[in-house]
Amino acid sequence: MKTPVRVAVTGAAGQIAYSLLFRIAAGDMLGRDQPVILQLLEIPPAMDALKGVAMELEDCAFPLLAGMTLSDKAEEAFRDADFALLVGARPRGPGMERKDLLEANAQIFSTQGKALNDVASRGIKVLVVGNPANTNALIASRNAPDLDARAFTSMTRLDHNRAIAQLAAKTGAETTDVQRMIVWGNHSATQYPDISQATVKGKAAPDLVPRDWYEKEFIPTVQQRGAAIIKARGASSAASAASSAIDHVRDWVMGTPDGDWVSMGIPSDGSYGIEEGLMYSFPVTCRNGEYSIVQDLSVDEFSRSMMQATETELREERDGVAHLLP
Ligand code: NAI
Repeated sequence: MKTPVRVAVTGAAGQIAYSLLFRIAAGDMLGRDQPVILQLLEIPPAMDALKGVAMELEDCAFPLLAGMTLSDKAEEAFRDADFALLVGARPRGPGMERKDLLEANAQIFSTQGKALNDVASRGIKVLVVGNPANTNALIASRNAPDLDARAFTSMTRLDHNRAIAQLAAKTGAETTDVQRMIVWGNHSATQYPDISQATVKGKAAPDLVPRDWYEKEFIPTVQQRGAAIIKARGASSAASAASSAIDHVRDWVMGTPDGDWVSMGIPSDGSYGIEEGLMYSFPVTCRNGEYSIVQDLSVDEFSRSMMQATETELREERDGVAHLLP
């Protein structure tokens, strides 16, 4: 058996975590031969609920669950962590403006970034799920100067998976027939789900669907899917978000399939003209635990303007929390 790895999860008594933790403990994220120690972080009022979740995890008698810690202190939960899934975030309350939400979360993620910097494993991989995910990841990273900036990523995999599902449904294909989907930019309504490179059963996707459907139905459906789920379910996407978080980390660690790629929010290196340092979603391939941006894809005028619109929003978010960016 391998040595257990330490996986810190924040917001561990929340909705997403209620799916996520059980999948991690079952081996879906790091493999069926990889024991895990779960290091769970919550805020004090949620510690009782967290105990209940921990009791249920125990009751599953997962063979791979090698230990669990519960804490309301980031320095405890992140100690020696090999992975951190930052799910916990402040939800938007009544009367809260977008900038208030940004500010409240910026405080949380600057504190957590500092704690990761101080106590986490030097080889840690971080996935930020809590919204606004891209900017939260940027803040955490900038507050962790001793860790590799590339260790901080944000989740657009749910958007990527949603886009694959929509295209598969429209073309009467299986989701596994769809390759080379891209989600560019922010995990928000400005994201650009791009099918220009996508294939369905090896055929170019743009030749299989009407342009009008792509621009007027597909893009808005993917962009607004989170809101549609809230409307239908009365609560935001949770199991699908957890599943995508599992996909994100698994592919980062184990690699992407040959000939295909995934979308991840990562620090821009200036590729495709996106401002360096912004936490922007790109198409990436993963090998040996490292991701690389897929280069040299053609970008037409429509794509360029969509990519820039979401970049502009990310710049504005970043500028709104500039005082918390060392
Ligand atoms: P939830 O409200 O059910 O759970 C969040 C948990 O985080 C709560 O238990 C809360 O006590 C905890 N929390 C708050 N502040 C914390 C802190 N400073 N440290 C540790 N824990 C803290 O929310 P849910 O549904 O689990 O969603 C979590 C986040 O994920 C939200 O911000 C949501 O918007 C975001 N999300 C992101 C998606 C993406 O694709 N990137 C998709 C779906 C949701």
